This record gives sequence, C-alpha cells and structure tokens, in this order.
Amino acid sequence: MDAREMKIKAAEVALGHVENGMRLGIGTGTTAEEFVRLLAEKVAGGLQVNGVPTSERTARLCLELGVPLKSLDESPELDLTIDGADELDHSLRLIKGGGGALLREKIVAASSARMIVIADESKLVETLGVFPLPIEVNAFGLVSTRIMIEKAAARLGLSGDLTLRMAGDQTFKTDGGHFILDASFGRIADAEALAMALNSIPGVVEHGLFINLATLAIIAGPAGVQTLQAH
Ligand code: A5P
Repeated sequence: MDAREMKIKAAEVALGHVENGMRLGIGTGTTAEEFVRLLAEKVAGGLQVNGVPTSERTARLCLELGVPLKSLDESPELDLTIDGADELDHSLRLIKGGGGALLREKIVAASSARMIVIADESKLVETLGVFPLPIEVNAFGLVSTRIMIEKAAARLGLSGDLTLRMAGDQTFKTDGGHFILDASFGRIADAEALAMALNSIPGVVEHGLFINLATLAIIAGPAGVQTLQAH
C-alpha cells in the first residue's frame, strides 16, 4: 500500500461517520482532498451535507466536485470536522499547518462538536516536534514577534530555527494574509505549555498545536486501519 492508498483508506473509514444532513467542516491537505473526492461521490448519489471549507484551496476543490458549501458564518456550529494532520501523538495532540491553513482549520475544528483526524501511519509519533511547528504571525512587527517566540521557547528549554515560509521567491501568505514561521524546536515535551506561551504573544495569530480538539483519529497503515479515541 503506498501513501496515497493509505490516505484513501483513512478517508473511506471517516466517510462512514458522515450522516445525512450533517454540517461538516472540511479540512485541507492531500489527505483531506481524498476525503473530499469520496464525499463528492456520496453527494452525487444523494447524500445531503453542508460543508464548511477550511481554506480557499479546499473550497475550490469542493466547488469543482459539487460538494455544497456554506461559510462558517452561515453555519456557525458544526456537527463534525474531518481533517488531516502533519503529526499526531497517542493523546490526539496534533501539529497542523503544513499546508498553511491552520488558523481556519482551528476555528472550524473548535466550532465542531467532533473532529476526526485522518492520516497515514507515518504521521503518528511518540512525541510531537519532528515536523516543524507552523506559527502564523502578523506581518506587522515580525522581527519583534520572532524574538518573543524565541524567548518564550527558551523558557521551556526549546530552541531552533524559525524559518519564514516562502512560496517561490515571495513570502508565503495565508488565506488571512499573515506570514508563517516554521519552528524547528525538535521534541516538544510539554505541548500544552508551549501552546499557552505562544498564545500570549500578541503578534502570534495562531499556532499549529491542536490540543483537545480531535476526538478520534483514523490511521491507515499497510497492516490495516487503527483508531485512537480521545479520553
Ligand atoms: C494544512 O494546513 C494542514 O494542517 C494539513 O491538514 C496537514 O498539513 C496535513 O496535510 P497532508 O494530508 O497533505 O499531509
């Protein structure tokens, strides 16, 4: 089974949790896109859902494939969000934002009664932090914000490069018009403490640590699919 087949397998199992009439948050990234493709087939067959996309990229794919969409303001409380992750641990803490959509992804997940994460098993780790942590920052005061992040991380014993994300020769801009610093802190022993420290920095718009948001993870590997439930 190659990585794409594993993503499709996880997306198929997640689709089994979607019920007629649901208000559905729809994630971003290659795994979420496999879910959108499968969902579109069900919609073509008569399934009724109202999707709320977590990015312009996902919105475009949904429109192309005929998945009905609403904005989060039109549908502010959701039944379920299905999204990928860059990393997850066994307590369902996540790193997200590799695709740059972390702010909308977190707002949509927090507006949902449940969040299901779909992933191939390469994403499951003992401790978060191999994948650089995306931190979305306001363009104003970028240098100050970077220093504050470095100092906050140092107080938690963390250090590493903070790389301004680029798109070719331009600074990458999120759907909200912000920048992303990818933080190579390595192993994040206390994700909760880091999340709180980052939240207290004014120039940090949001960070890619998703804690207490996922309720179920569906993880596909060559040997089959495993699920992890939040406690
Ligand atoms: C988008 O900003 C991310 O949070 C994605 O959900 C995450 O990067 C997973 O993407 P893939 O499914 O492409 O690995």
